[in-house]
This record gives sequence, structure tokens and C-alpha cells, in this order.
Amino acid sequence: MTVLVTGGAGFIGSNFILDWLETVGEPVVNLDALTYAGNLQNLASLQSDARHVFVQGDIGDRGLVDRLLAEHRPRAVLHFAAESHVDRSIHGPGEFMRTNVMGSFHLLEAVRSHWAALAPDERSAFRFHHVSTDEVYGSLQPGAPAFAETHPYEPNSPYSASKAASDHLVRAWHHTYGLPVVTTNCSNNYGPYHFPEKLIPLIIVNALAGKALPVYGDGQQVRDWLYVRDHASAIRAVLAGGRVGETYNIGGWNEMANIDIVHTVCALLDELRPDPAGPYRRLVTHVTDRPGHDRRYAIDARKIERELGWRPAETFDSGIRKTVQWYLDHPDWVANVQSGGYRDWLSANYSAR
Ligand code: NAD
Ligand code: DAU
Repeated sequence: MTVLVTGGAGFIGSNFILDWLETVGEPVVNLDALTYAGNLQNLASLQSDARHVFVQGDIGDRGLVDRLLAEHRPRAVLHFAAESHVDRSIHGPGEFMRTNVMGSFHLLEAVRSHWAALAPDERSAFRFHHVSTDEVYGSLQPGAPAFAETHPYEPNSPYSASKAASDHLVRAWHHTYGLPVVTTNCSNNYGPYHFPEKLIPLIIVNALAGKALPVYGDGQQVRDWLYVRDHASAIRAVLAGGRVGETYNIGGWNEMANIDIVHTVCALLDELRPDPAGPYRRLVTHVTDRPGHDRRYAIDARKIERELGWRPAETFDSGIRKTVQWYLDHPDWVANVQSGGYRDWLSANYSAR
């Protein structure tokens, strides 16, 4: 038995593979194009682990995906690969359409043709698990009920529109062709191996470097934060017991305003790595807001709890402490990802704000 993971060298995909091999132990074929966001260092601990087979390639490469499916005959495909950063989608939406929409389409077509040729018992046991986001639901007013699975799709950014498109493709491949799919829509993840273009790792690495901590607009935008290993355990639960054709929301029951996230990270750094120059929150700098910035996301995760008994194991306090400590303990990882390309991105996104 084997599973095929796409995007397994990224933040969530690599955490998922590490968790999967620690818990389930079933071999994984990891197909990843190694874009700027893919990093094999995340999986360095698996270097001599024969259960992890890494293949560098594009989900849109039909010949390659056909070959991998034929050779490894996975019982499931877990589709993480995507362009994932909202600000990058605003600067350059094309890559998001290419990977998230067309890449997902080519992958679905390859999987459909593989699945259609399986024996009847293998066909019914097979799963295509699509990893998606709460951002497809749009933005909530303060006090409005959290997103349930039945909430209308109202994506507002090129990123969320591309993810919404991929969700629709997955749904259609189930309804039209009978492909056994499940989709999960998760809230904001944080934890080890998070690329420092995203809020929490950016704040940690900038603070440690004595640089400004950029807060978009008034910092009162609300996100629902989930420790990444809890996302991994939720995906395991849905893959094992989720009903075919269903979607499951995954969240941390932890809504927080961005400014409070930034202040929490600063307070932890003050405790764990005090700066002689003074408290880290002195570095907070309000900058021009993100265009079309969604004001609030919140996930109603009752369905996955009711049907599959899943709840997050970490509180925000325990998860963020582990995360900050992880970044303090891994300066080499941080230095390695802050390559020339990373510096170009910082200047493209922040110099005119
Ligand atoms: P990431 O940007 O850290 O990693 C994406 C990975 O996909 C990288 O390893 C990259 O090399 C790979 N990739 C990109 N294009 C590819 C292609 N064409 N072919 C093969 N591989 C390709 O993203 P992440 O934060 O780990 O997110 C993973 C998935 O989870 C995405 O689908 C994202 O939409 C979804 N998601 C993310 C969050 C979050 O908070 N980060 C929350 C909910 C859902
Ligand atoms: O909600 C799930 C989504 O969470 C995932 O689908 C995306 O892949 C993931 O990137 C994340 O999207 P966000 O836009 O919410 O994450 P980001 O870390 O970019 O920003 C979090 C919040 O912090 C958001 O309101 C924007 C704000 N922000 C971000 C950056 C990078 C700042 O205030 N300053 C910054 O410098």
C-alpha cells in the first residue's frame, strides 16, 4: 500500500509526510516541483527512509503523473501542491492559474484514467483527497456565524479564486465521473517549516534580525489559526473515515486579530531570546493594507468532530510556543530559505508599502 502526495516538500505537505510516516507508516511517493516554496531540507530526517520516494516534477506533467500512478499504484492521492501565498497572487496571478487550476485539472484527468482501470474493489477503496482552504468562502462580518461546509463560495483574491476553481473541478470529477473524492477546507496553519513570507514566520525572523514587523492596515483582520500537525491529523481522519464526495472544514477554534498574533510572538521572543535593545513590539510598523484584504475568517469545525471525532490537540498557546522555539533552534533552515529569490520577494512586496 502506498499513497501519492503532491506538494510534499512545502510547509503543510512536509509536515503531513513526517506525521504520516510517524503514525501510519505507509510508504509515500512525494511529487513536488520544488518551486521557491518547496524545500527538501524539511524532509532531511527521511533521507535514508525507504518509505519516502521523492520525485521532482510538475502536477501538470501528464506523462510523468501517468507513469508514477502506473508504477506505484497508490491507493490514494493527497493533493497539497499549489501556489499558496495571497500577496504573490496579487503581484502575479498567472502561476496560480497554471498550477492551482490547470495543474489540478491535469492531475484529476491522470488520476481518473488510472482509477477507471482499477479492479472494482480497488476502485471503491481509492481516494482523491483535495487539500483546500477556508479562503474560498470569502470574508465574514464581525459576529457572523463561522463558515460551515454549506457556506456559499465567495473567493476574493486571485489565490482564493484559483483554489475555489480547483474545488469545483474536484466536485465535478466526482459528480460526473464518480471519482471517489474528499475535500478539506482548512484555516490558517502555523508551525515548523513555515516559509517566512507568511505572517507568523515573517514576524519571527524579522524580529530576530531587528527589522520592522509589517502589519497590514490596522491589524484587526481576524484569522483562525491551527497548528500544522493538527491539520495533518485531520487529513488522516478524513482519508480514513470521511464520506466520499463530502467536504470537511478544519479549523483551530482559535480566532485572533493579526495585531494580537504579532504581540504574542513578540512576547514569546522577549521571554525566550530577549533583545538588549528593548521589547520586540517596538518594531511593529503598520504598512499599506493588502488590496481586497479579507477582514475575517472563522471555521465551524463541528462536522469533522461529529462524524470523525477529530479536534485539534494543540491550543494556540502550546502551538505558538513550540513554533517560536523551533525557529530559534533552526537558524540554518531560516538562513537557507532566505536566498536571493526571497530577498527579491521582500523588496517587491514591501518596498512600496
Ligand atoms: P507551500 O507554498 O508551502 O507549498 C506548496 C508546495 O507545492 C511546494 O513544495 C511547491 O514546490 C509545490 N508545488 C507548487 N507548484 C507545483 C506544481 N505545479 N507541481 C508540483 N508541485 C508544486 O504551501 P502550503 O502552505 O504547504 O499549502 C499546501 C496546500 O494547503 C495548498 O494547497 C494550500 O492552498 C492549502 N492550504 C494552506 C493553508 C496554510 O495556512 N498554509 C491553509 C489551508 C489550506
Ligand atoms: O486561511 C487559509 C490561508 O492562510 C491559506 O489558504 C493560504 O495558503 C495561507 O497563505 C494563509 O493565507 P493568509 O493570507 O491568511 O496568510 P498570511 O500569513 O499571508 O497573512 C495572515 C494575515 O496577516 C493576513 O490577514 C495578512 C496579514 N499580514 C501578512 C503578511 C505577510 C500582515 O499583516 N503582514 C504581512 O507582512
